[in-house]
Amino acid sequence: MSAVPLLQVQDLSSSYGRIRVLSTVSLEIGRGELVALVGSNGAGKTTLLRCLSGVQPIDGGTIRFGGHDINHLRASERVALGIAQVPEGRLVFPQLTIEDNLLLGGYGRNRATVSAGFTRAYAMFPILAERRRQLAGTLSGGQQQMLALGRALMSAPKLLLLDEPSMGLAPVVVERIFDIIDELRASGTTILLVEQNANAALALADRGYVIETGRIVLAGDGLDLLEDRRVQEAYLGV
Ligand SMILES: Nc1ncnc2c1ncn2[C@@H]1O[C@H](COP(=O)(O)OP(=O)(O)OP(=O)(O)O)[C@@H](O)[C@H]1O
Ligand SMILES: [Mg+2]
Repeated sequence: MSAVPLLQVQDLSSSYGRIRVLSTVSLEIGRGELVALVGSNGAGKTTLLRCLSGVQPIDGGTIRFGGHDINHLRASERVALGIAQVPEGRLVFPQLTIEDNLLLGGYGRNRATVSAGFTRAYAMFPILAERRRQLAGTLSGGQQQMLALGRALMSAPKLLLLDEPSMGLAPVVVERIFDIIDELRASGTTILLVEQNANAALALADRGYVIETGRIVLAGDGLDLLEDRRVQEAYLGV
């Protein structure tokens, strides 16, 4: 049933020890949508992505994927279902070749999926194909972000969770990364994009959510949020 959103998060809460950092967060993402999640440092963006990918425990609430409750599923089982996360800071393996980094992204997938993943990643990022036998540590920051994206694509994900893909990159590289995210959406991948670069993220996104100290405070179409006075004052320096 296509009417069921791909991801539905309802009243999600999560804590570090006794400190609650997410409180009753609710959001949903439809199939094929690009949804931006913006908010300041420490608002809880990364924690939310980690809850979705299953590496951060939750205190309460429900995460549904394709209409099914996945609360009880481990991270590896969520990857198998089609949820892939590109972590903050990229986290590629610098001592492994580009090819081996990609291969790890296809761990547990069958040969045909892995082969299709390589074809797709190399077509999207020709620089990775050219340098596939080199160590990932030799790549520039932007190229490592491309590798991190390519690695996530290797599992043929249905939902891509991107944590600050533009962080620390030069403006021209940032532009390229946002173009790539747009291409991924055009190819049918559903994306949750976490960004401090609220301007670029909301301009690109179909819809967006604003998170402040662990709570969703605003939601709407990307362009509407971009023009919202509260968003402009808080995040866009207008
Ligand atoms: N491992 C941890 N242990 C304890 N507290 C943590 C831990 N990781 C994050 N926090 C706290 O949880 C809150 C939310 O952090 P989180 O990293 O999710 O925010 P964020 O929105 O991703 O921030 P940033 O924009 O800086 O990446 C912050 O107050 C942070 O200090
Ligand atoms: Mg973060």
